[in-house]
Amino acid sequence: MLDLLVRNARVAGRAGLTDLGISAGRFAAVEAEARETIDAQGGLVTPPLVEPHVHLDAVLTEGQPRSNVTGSLFEGIAIWAERVKDLSVEDVLARTRQVARWQLANGVLHVRSHVDVCDPELRAVRALVQLREELRGLISLQLVAFPQQGILSFDGGKELMREAVKLGCDVVGAIPHFEITREYGEQSVKFAFELAAEHGLMVDIHCDETDDEHSRFVEVMAAETIRLGLEGRVTASHTTAMHSYNAAYAYRLINNLRRAGLHMVTNPLDNSTLQGRFDGYPIRRGHTRIKELMAAGVNVCVGNDSVMDPWYPLGCADPLQAAFVLVHYGQMSGADELRRLIEMITVNPAQALGIGDYGLENGSAADLVVFAAPSEADAIRLVAPRRYVLREGRIVARAEPAHRTIVWDGKEEEVDFLRR
Ligand code: FE2
Repeated sequence: MLDLLVRNARVAGRAGLTDLGISAGRFAAVEAEARETIDAQGGLVTPPLVEPHVHLDAVLTEGQPRSNVTGSLFEGIAIWAERVKDLSVEDVLARTRQVARWQLANGVLHVRSHVDVCDPELRAVRALVQLREELRGLISLQLVAFPQQGILSFDGGKELMREAVKLGCDVVGAIPHFEITREYGEQSVKFAFELAAEHGLMVDIHCDETDDEHSRFVEVMAAETIRLGLEGRVTASHTTAMHSYNAAYAYRLINNLRRAGLHMVTNPLDNSTLQGRFDGYPIRRGHTRIKELMAAGVNVCVGNDSVMDPWYPLGCADPLQAAFVLVHYGQMSGADELRRLIEMITVNPAQALGIGDYGLENGSAADLVVFAAPSEADAIRLVAPRRYVLREGRIVARAEPAHRTIVWDGKEEEVDFLRR
């Protein structure tokens, strides 16, 4: 007898509706008998959502000590520099515990968070290492040592990076386009790669997050990946400058990114609002070359980046919101593109983060999300509620879709925004 049977699921790549059996916390062959049954009601079922890029240490600080009036990156940095003075382990824990709950409700069971290490006391790193323990068994959390103010341009930057790795960061970051010189930028990338290689860690670098077409550090990342044999373990985040590269350079670059097996993360919420701020009309879009990268076979993922912080005042840690924005800003409204957007918040980031035991095949951990929507397009269109979230066969979140009615011709009737 099964422990749990999920009935009437719409699973990508499987015809019609299907049932999923769960036994001892793993997907198993369907049997007639089950201790408990969940009706997916024809809703889309996917493996858990994966958040490949968020800055948990900054979440929920919007308005502290003041709101960002211009909405610009630079005002955000200035506000954060004030807020960071009050940072304490308890402050970070209180905010991140709240957002972790939002992530769980959204079906996000794997998270990679960047953590600012430009703090001699490394308060945020200490807090998030504790959070990672608290979440164990519910949400897996990877921490990236992220030098917000640079490695070579910040006093003691290299030491702080080494210390953050000692404290337990899983991934090594950098921010080469923010370093004072191009040489510093290159050196910071090489430092990050060598630190990662030395400790057997992965790499995830904030790279070329600028509209300056001369910012070309992602090519250094590709070269270092190949030199150190780190293929598949390296992610380039943001890479917005790629939007402005000339076509000949972009062509050569993308070939090398594919050769190096780099994973790419685009962050539509922040970068659609922060980029292009120095442009007169026409104003450039702030995204990497998503379609060209995907056509070349490069793994591209969608990140959330911010949840109510000095750089982005909105957000609720829901990858579907980021996907919804990318439909528009990345012109990804084609039928296949809508399906691929769901992959960009599930299987693609699972691959980038190196998450094993992932997927809906029999034998895998019984982690899944049931959407209150029948298709990928509807899930994105409605930013649909997650009717159920399962972790190892246990229900860890559930939602009742809102019950909405109208009065039409004198009669009350229900509206659910689904096409019949
Ligand atoms: Fe970021």
